[in-house]
Amino acid sequence: MGFHHLLLLFFSVVLHNFMQLTQAQMPGFISLDCGGEKNHTDRLGLEWTPDDQILYGKTSKISTENETRQQYQTLRYFPADNRKYCYSLNVKTRTRYLIRATFLYGNFDSNNVYPKFDISLGPTHWATIVISDANTIESQELIFLASDPTVSVCLSNSTTGLPFISTLELRQFNGSVYLTPYEDQFFLSVSARINFGADNEDPVRYPDDPFDRIWQSDLVKKANYLVDVAAGTTKVSTNLPIDIGKDELPPQRVMQTAVVGRSGSLTYRLNLDGFPGFGWAYTYFAEIEDLNPKQTRKFRLVLPGAPDVSKAIVNIQENAQGNCRVYEPGFYNISLPFVLSFKFTKTTDSTEGPLVNAIEISKYLEISDGSFDGAVAASLVSGYRLLDWAQEGGDPCLPAPWSWLECNSDPQPKITSVKLSSKNISGSIPSELAKLSSLEELWLDGNAFTGSIPDFTGCPNLKIIHLENNQLSGDLPSSLADLPNLHKLYVQNNLLSGSVPSGLLSKNIILNYTGNNKLHNKTSGGKLNKYIIFGLAVGAVALLIGFISACLIIRQNKKGHKKEPEGSFHVSSMSNATSEGAQCFTLSELRSATDNFQKKVGSGGFGTVYYGKLNDGKEIAVKILGNTNIQQGKKEFANEVSLLSRIHHRNLVKFYGFCQDEGKDILVYEFMHNGTLKEHLYGPLAKEHKLKWLKRLKIAEEAAKGIEYLHTGCVPSIIHRDLKTSNILLDNNMKAKVSDFGLSKLAVDGISHVSSIVRGTVGYLDPEYYISNHLTEKSDIYSFGVILLELISGKEAISNESFGINCRNIVQWAKLHIENGDIQGIIDPSLGDEYDIQSMWKLAEKALMCVQPHANTRPSMSEIIKELQDAILIERGGSSEEISRNSFHSSLNMGLLDVGVDPYVSFHESIALPSAR
Ligand SMILES: *[C@@H]1O[C@H](CO)[C@@H](O)[C@H](O)[C@H]1NC(C)=O
Ligand SMILES: *[C@@H]1O[C@H](CO)[C@@H](O)[C@H](O)[C@H]1NC(C)=O
Ligand SMILES: *[C@@H]1O[C@H](CO)[C@@H](O)[C@H](O)[C@H]1NC(C)=O
Ligand SMILES: *[C@@H]1O[C@H](CO)[C@@H](O)[C@H](O)[C@H]1NC(C)=O
Ligand SMILES: *[C@@H]1O[C@H](CO)[C@@H](O)[C@H](O)[C@H]1NC(C)=O
Ligand SMILES: *[C@@H]1O[C@H](CO)[C@@H](O)[C@H](O)[C@H]1NC(C)=O
Ligand SMILES: *[C@@H]1O[C@H](CO)[C@@H](O)[C@H](O)[C@H]1NC(C)=O
Repeated sequence: MGFHHLLLLFFSVVLHNFMQLTQAQMPGFISLDCGGEKNHTDRLGLEWTPDDQILYGKTSKISTENETRQQYQTLRYFPADNRKYCYSLNVKTRTRYLIRATFLYGNFDSNNVYPKFDISLGPTHWATIVISDANTIESQELIFLASDPTVSVCLSNSTTGLPFISTLELRQFNGSVYLTPYEDQFFLSVSARINFGADNEDPVRYPDDPFDRIWQSDLVKKANYLVDVAAGTTKVSTNLPIDIGKDELPPQRVMQTAVVGRSGSLTYRLNLDGFPGFGWAYTYFAEIEDLNPKQTRKFRLVLPGAPDVSKAIVNIQENAQGNCRVYEPGFYNISLPFVLSFKFTKTTDSTEGPLVNAIEISKYLEISDGSFDGAVAASLVSGYRLLDWAQEGGDPCLPAPWSWLECNSDPQPKITSVKLSSKNISGSIPSELAKLSSLEELWLDGNAFTGSIPDFTGCPNLKIIHLENNQLSGDLPSSLADLPNLHKLYVQNNLLSGSVPSGLLSKNIILNYTGNNKLHNKTSGGKLNKYIIFGLAVGAVALLIGFISACLIIRQNKKGHKKEPEGSFHVSSMSNATSEGAQCFTLSELRSATDNFQKKVGSGGFGTVYYGKLNDGKEIAVKILGNTNIQQGKKEFANEVSLLSRIHHRNLVKFYGFCQDEGKDILVYEFMHNGTLKEHLYGPLAKEHKLKWLKRLKIAEEAAKGIEYLHTGCVPSIIHRDLKTSNILLDNNMKAKVSDFGLSKLAVDGISHVSSIVRGTVGYLDPEYYISNHLTEKSDIYSFGVILLELISGKEAISNESFGINCRNIVQWAKLHIENGDIQGIIDPSLGDEYDIQSMWKLAEKALMCVQPHANTRPSMSEIIKELQDAILIERGGSSEEISRNSFHSSLNMGLLDVGVDPYVSFHESIALPSAR
């Protein structure tokens, strides 16, 4: 069986056993031994698994001089055609990874023609692999932030020879050392990672480097690589431990060796693969020589053509604050040539020559947006996970289209043709097909499709449609006749019924609808057409009636009628707001219910709350508004009464009634047995019985629903204006309800804000509202964001102690951590490991959106609810294994936080000056 078969076939391996893989060694390590036959553990302790889940491609055994590692005794190769062949690896989203592919040719095809082909990561062209020696391993590395749960590595576009691969390695990072301001648009393609002063030619990697980065020995001199070394360059090393500081800095073994320019300078020249271009370049210094107090080591970096770079002086001991500590100045974005000559020279007042331990240089590789229909295509294939054709992986069009697709050559290619004839597909025709806006040909014939033919008006370019030999039923949609370019339509041998739309019959197209017993052509279908017309008329009348009655309901409400449709709330205006619907209690009634105001259960900004029980056994919370500020109290009273009596939602505290007697203003609410959310987060209650993460998510969801109802279920909408954890109450079943509408005002219909005196609680107050006095729903969103941060961190919104020096505010504190990828740093320690990091991330990111300084960039309540629901799903779906895997996630970049430096500031400065991260 030759390659001919393979032409049609693709493979994909989804490592469903990712969990097991990761448990054995470092979590997040995948080491595929391509073409290998069995698992093995190498000398370093890395566990290799064969890529044998792959159904396609062929394996070959090779033997190369001096190479004994088992993973390099085999490889997998693919036909030289215009297809792509993808490995699909499971990853964790929002996590940084190193991915490495290696290629050892070994003349496996006895051809002695060195192959040249491309590899891509998803739709992004990663590199062109050019083999130039049968016995040399070519290697490519990328650092990326996973945005999807899988990544595809595809081989394609062979120019010479057969594409092949020896190993594919995935290494999960722990934190944010490789965080760049561009990581959404650019991968880092690793060009050089050099360990200076190395003991021998072996690279330092796992287990010295827990992330298995390969630190090349500076003793390995390749053509035009590490040449032009200055005279007087000597190796130095130490056995003393090095304070690495952060986990992802170079490992100790790399930092324990260095080179020193005894004659005052260090020079090197090396070729940087992939350059010229913009890159990321860092140097790592640690003072490992024992200098006496009179000795100093100060030096500058000199790059030809970049005079600014030389302004900064490196003084390792000062910069690193001591010996054997790492100082890592670098450039987040620097323009570098293909041939890089660099030099460190000592300053005139320095007694010692420069010293360097390690450098790391990567090029920014622009991430491709992928094809235009990528999301639709992904959704389409996700419905057929088990079928071969749906598993090809990678982007549908880039760098080569899936076997059953054709794409145009737009910069963001669009799918023009879908050819899924005779693929044994059942079920209804996937609706995604009708979303391919540039589709010209659709071939679905010879399957077992059932159901009706979808509306293809979203695909105006359709020319050819093959639906024959399926089990499609229902009408032949008349909308097909509206497709302006339709040329051929085949629907024969289905179970279609009704009449052939006259538009189709009159059109000059090739139409075959034979073999549909119940489908008739126009001449015999006159009667049916009448039915359709009649049906339409009835439908229209029904619609009209529906419309009229909707208007009536709205008008009734405008008149202030009591009858309201369930779940909706309309108020005409504040002026005629009355307390209808709310019960009017007498003071004596309330006295007896509360046993003469015996049991105080709380006190808020507006008064004291007492527990009570009515004669009918109903438990109540009785809030006596304080006398101190009666003016304002009175206004709020009227406000609250008129509002509360109208609002009914299961996540809003029920209002039973009011009482105005003996100069007292009293509100009566349903009693909430479990108190406030605040008490459960921080109070004595919290110590005994901490709220679990899932519970917190549910409370947030419930409260959010209550607020959403205020925002969107009420006309005009209601802004709460004082959302905080003490205003979220918990009932018997720990279900959350929002309380205290004392500050609520009705938003004026049609205007996006209400000007009013700024009121609210410090820590929760929307800064934009505070400055502009413009009140919108988005001010509540801000407060809710603060509540979400409290749920995540278990810390109060404002605190003098919790957030370090110069920070009293949870928003400022959480923002710095989250933006640095350090979510661990803000998670409530009492949650232990009992949460899924993904749900935590989801919420943390949403919370940050909520507290954006500008109201218009904050999400709506319904978006927040969706996020909460997703997080709850993740949390429910998470197995214990999942959780243990997640708890590995990072705590990172604390150094940055300690200094209190905004990383984005140093990104810009770093272009001119080396900056410590
Ligand atoms: C190889 O290792 C993987 C993951 O550790 C495991 O799932 C698989 O069963 C192993 N295969 C063999 C043949 O031992
Ligand atoms: C293999 O090792 C020997 C001895 O170290 C060396 O002379 C030879 O050049 C090596 N071959 C290759 C291809 O690296
Ligand atoms: C780096 O800087 C250059 C010029 O200042 C800019 O054009 C480029 O977008 C920046 N970022 C990357 C990733 O190249
Ligand atoms: C395939 O390779 C050729 C030659 O290198 C190149 O011109 C072409 O653009 C590549 N095609 C894709 C889809 O990458
Ligand atoms: C229509 O389809 C039937 C069944 O496939 C076939 O026998 C017939 O020749 C076709 N008619 C035309 C006009 O193509
Ligand atoms: C419609 O039916 C008439 C009479 O039954 C027949 O002559 C005509 O060929 C049919 N048209 C099509 C397009 O099948
Ligand atoms: C990853 O980060 C966690 C949390 O900071 C830390 O406990 C762990 O040791 C780190 N792992 C590695 C390999 O650095």
